[in-house]
Amino acid sequence: MCGEVSVSGGKNAAVAIIPAALLANSPCTIENLPDIEDVRVLIEMLEYLGAEITFTDGTMCVDPTKVDKYKAPYELSRRMRASYYLAPVLLGLFSRAEVPLPGGCDIGARPIDQTIKGMTTLGADVRIERGSMVVSTDGMYGAEVYLDLPSVGATVNTVLTAVTARGNTTINNAAKEPHIVDLANFLNSMGARIKGAGTDVIRVAGGRELHGSTYAVIPDQIETGTLMIAAAATGGDVLITGAIPTHMEALSAKLLEMGVYVSDDDDRIHIRSDGNLRAVNVKTQVYPGFPTDLQQPITSLLTIANGSSMVTETIYEARFKYVEELRRLGASIRVIDHTAIVEGVDRLIGAPVTATDLRAGASMIIAGLIADGVTEVSGLNYILRGYEDIDRKLRSLGAKVERVVSDRVLMY
Ligand code: EPU
Repeated sequence: MCGEVSVSGGKNAAVAIIPAALLANSPCTIENLPDIEDVRVLIEMLEYLGAEITFTDGTMCVDPTKVDKYKAPYELSRRMRASYYLAPVLLGLFSRAEVPLPGGCDIGARPIDQTIKGMTTLGADVRIERGSMVVSTDGMYGAEVYLDLPSVGATVNTVLTAVTARGNTTINNAAKEPHIVDLANFLNSMGARIKGAGTDVIRVAGGRELHGSTYAVIPDQIETGTLMIAAAATGGDVLITGAIPTHMEALSAKLLEMGVYVSDDDDRIHIRSDGNLRAVNVKTQVYPGFPTDLQQPITSLLTIANGSSMVTETIYEARFKYVEELRRLGASIRVIDHTAIVEGVDRLIGAPVTATDLRAGASMIIAGLIADGVTEVSGLNYILRGYEDIDRKLRSLGAKVERVVSDRVLMY
């Protein structure tokens, strides 16, 4: 693949920022949003709650002034993970909320105990009833919260609770992912006072009136990484624009170790590869470590590296389901406990494969780009949850990718 491609706005930032807009007392304009299924589902949910929304060319206007419901609809909530970000938002607005337990990708256990810990410490009563989080409060007050692990979801939910609670909250052992910083910046642009986002201690001075603002979402870290890996996988020469290179350091370091040329300048990342790749070991970690969301895509790349690589997953125990699909293309991978041992092969050969979740879908696409012959990837619905126009973007770089029916993509 050769040429230039731009990154869309961040999914995991968008799905936190859009619900947060309901906390304003006037309309918000959110720019650089990706047009993906998760964002479309959120729009439907917010409209159901009473918000007025327009969404064109990546810019969304959210008028929250007529929101009058505190219960989120079951069917829509089950379709995405981040639906439970509405729980602290609706609690802040109505002192009660009912939000079905979150859905999202099946990549291992996804408990919410730390969200419950954060919200309860600040004065919420949280019960799980009939598959929903039922939350109420007589008054929310700032407090000291210690998260047992730096969960992204629990950090988002605790920040969203703390901005409406009266007084000061300190969140210790907070997640440091770029989307946490983006959410905090958005809330600060609305008049909140949040300090320390991006470190493991976040301080929130709560109870301030929040107003509408105009804000642009950060570029998608995982889409950037997927495009970087895809470029390396095809022995390509690709310039990725509209990215934030500092968010990509863990991946860039691994690609350099593999023998890929990586350079960056301002918001651009240049990837060039002659297809001669060295095996490396990868271990997923919370930010700034190697992201679990790129574990599946990089494993596809390692299938054709020279030598033996070990990929260790420390965040989600079931994130190796896709390995079976890679084997169908001729990859040599064994999984022992939480580690995939990848023996590099000379080539992959196209076959029908299925995306078992969103990032598994990205991994199938990269494998399809590598494989000789035709690879038909089904389960496109997963991929469209998180990647805007992925087939068009790859085609623009010269890849042979075609959507055959609504749920399949063909690569040859
Ligand atoms: N965990 C707990 N208790 C909790 C919360 C999490 O034990 O209360 C554990 C989980 O079981 C998991 C780990 O902590 O082992 C990480 O979970 P985290 O809460 O950080 O993840 P999340 O908020 O559910 C977000 C992203 C995921 C991404 C993870 C890790 C969103 C909407 N989702 O999930 O993104 O994999 O952080 O970085 O932000 C994706 O985009 O494909 C995706 C799955």
